[in-house]
Amino acid sequence: MYPLLFRVVLSRFDSEFAHHAGMAVIRVLGVPPFSWAARALTAPPLEQHVHALGLVFPSPFGIAAGFDKNAVGVRGLAALGFGHVEVGTITAIPQDGNPKPRLFRLIPDRALINRMGFNNAGADAAAKRLAKLRRRKPATIIGVNIGKSRVVDVENATADYVASATKLAPLADYLAVNVSSPNTPGLRGLQAVDTLAPLLRAVKDAAGDTPLLVKIAPDLPDEEITAIAQLAVAEGLSGIIAHNTTIARDGLITDEATVEAAGAGGLSGAPLKERSMEVLKVVRAAVPADFCVIAVGGVETAEDVRARLDAGATLVQGYTGFLYRGPFWGRQITRGLRSAR
Ligand code: FNR
Repeated sequence: MYPLLFRVVLSRFDSEFAHHAGMAVIRVLGVPPFSWAARALTAPPLEQHVHALGLVFPSPFGIAAGFDKNAVGVRGLAALGFGHVEVGTITAIPQDGNPKPRLFRLIPDRALINRMGFNNAGADAAAKRLAKLRRRKPATIIGVNIGKSRVVDVENATADYVASATKLAPLADYLAVNVSSPNTPGLRGLQAVDTLAPLLRAVKDAAGDTPLLVKIAPDLPDEEITAIAQLAVAEGLSGIIAHNTTIARDGLITDEATVEAAGAGGLSGAPLKERSMEVLKVVRAAVPADFCVIAVGGVETAEDVRARLDAGATLVQGYTGFLYRGPFWGRQITRGLRSAR
């Protein structure tokens, strides 16, 4: 019932407005006594704890980057049952992102197209919020996803990532280098192994003991995915997040005019399901068994999460499903995982 009700309500509002309204409620849920009440309903059972990256994750399922860009909803998202929250993408320099509208629903596909363009308040503001959160001991794992500031040339990307890493790594449970968003010109070019190697090395130095992961695009050929996975292992990273949104538009059932009207951007949600399983298998085959692989893309149900865990994912994330499935999505998944064995 919730998915249908939620979809009806959602379709009445501008996508970004709906997101901000939802985030306002999530922030309230993060404050006692609401957080205590929500937590009592959503706390994942002990047997779902996952040991990864030297941490204990309350459950294998977390909310992917992009939902909480400024680390304002972490406590509320934890209260809703997500086992980790990856905040960001955060850039060294604050930025507004692309002009609106920049977020579009493809309802028949249970998908979104976005070209947000890393709208965020910047690394200094995020560092302040994260420091405050840390003092209050959040009941979840916080990943921090960093990206390139738009005004910085691709040639100077390393220094820009290092600036963010230096400020944010000490406040993060893990740090994720995002080189895979389609909405910052030139960003995905940083995935070329020759360019990526020095970038990852420099960010790893800046991150110190904080586990470092890299987030890749699904549109790379499988050989390049294998090469990046091997590079990540060779450079001493702790994991790979596979994957970001796609620039492909294959197999959609939404009418062509609606898809075209949305325009450029990254596609997310149910249509990614098949490719995300393929990418997961390619990555898993290229890395040691104890290397952390976070699977993300097209997850809707506990069965989807279970399928990814069975295919070698250490952890699983989702974003678009939250918009289509409703506020109890995290809880539904952790409850569903009990039976989806
Ligand atoms: C995203 N995603 C994303 N990823 C990232 O690394 N940094 C970001 O800032 C964002 N921003 C963002 C905004 C919006 C509106 C969406 C829908 C997605 C990508 C996200 O983390 C995830 O990788 C993909 O959406 C695929 O997962 P789902 O949505 O199919 O579960």
